[in-house]
Amino acid sequence: MNGAFHASPHEVLVARDADEAAALLAELLGRAVVDAVTQRGAARVALSGGTTPLSAYERFASLRLPWSATTLCLVDERAVPPTHPRSNAAAIRTALARGSESLAASRLVDPPHEANLEAAARAYEARLRSLFGVTEAAHFDALTLGIGADGHTASLFPGLGLTGVEDRLVVAVPEQSPLGLEARLSLTAPVLQASRLVVVLALGAGKRAAVAAARAPGELDVLPARALQRARGRVVWVLDEGSAG
Ligand code: 6PG
Repeated sequence: MNGAFHASPHEVLVARDADEAAALLAELLGRAVVDAVTQRGAARVALSGGTTPLSAYERFASLRLPWSATTLCLVDERAVPPTHPRSNAAAIRTALARGSESLAASRLVDPPHEANLEAAARAYEARLRSLFGVTEAAHFDALTLGIGADGHTASLFPGLGLTGVEDRLVVAVPEQSPLGLEARLSLTAPVLQASRLVVVLALGAGKRAAVAAARAPGELDVLPARALQRARGRVVWVLDEGSAG
């Protein structure tokens, strides 16, 4: 990648409602794709799971963009079969297909769904390295993130030391059965921080405390979304009145 980015102050957009938030996210992704293909001949976008961004993905897929030069990847995936209702790949593919059937089938790179989680993490990392042709961090052109009420982002959950993993692109996240969380694969903090654009979509009063804490000083392992404070690209928070406080 030519030159390092210089972190600029985070931007905050407060949407009137979920529809406007979805439109904002779709537009930010669309512009990033056009810029990337225009300037570099290819666009690589990483999409987070969860429920909030799905309607934005439908809108994004319906845009007239240079899709043949665009590759979509997952920010994280649960350790379930790709057809399982808890699979991010399944949910994202369904949302994209509502916008464009052909796109969902052709442009989404699934993480491997292998029984051995560490092997799956290594295999997904190899796919990303071949996609980017790099030996260090992968530089996505755009990346979407959500945030949990506990301050996790991607599948970097608090208290597991995951934000300290800096020599990998993909980390295996162990099952947290007391929390009802299955094992997962997740992009690591350096990959999130290297993206040219990160859009964090957080809606509702239930996210307000986590959003505020993520943008305040403190330990990353206590609140992993704080990793975005070290982002080197553009960071845009798409919020609503509830989450913006
Ligand atoms: C996942 C996501 C996760 C999500 C947040 C917010 O796999 O669950 O990557 O980080 O973005 O938990 O989820 P909601 O959008 O459903 O609130």
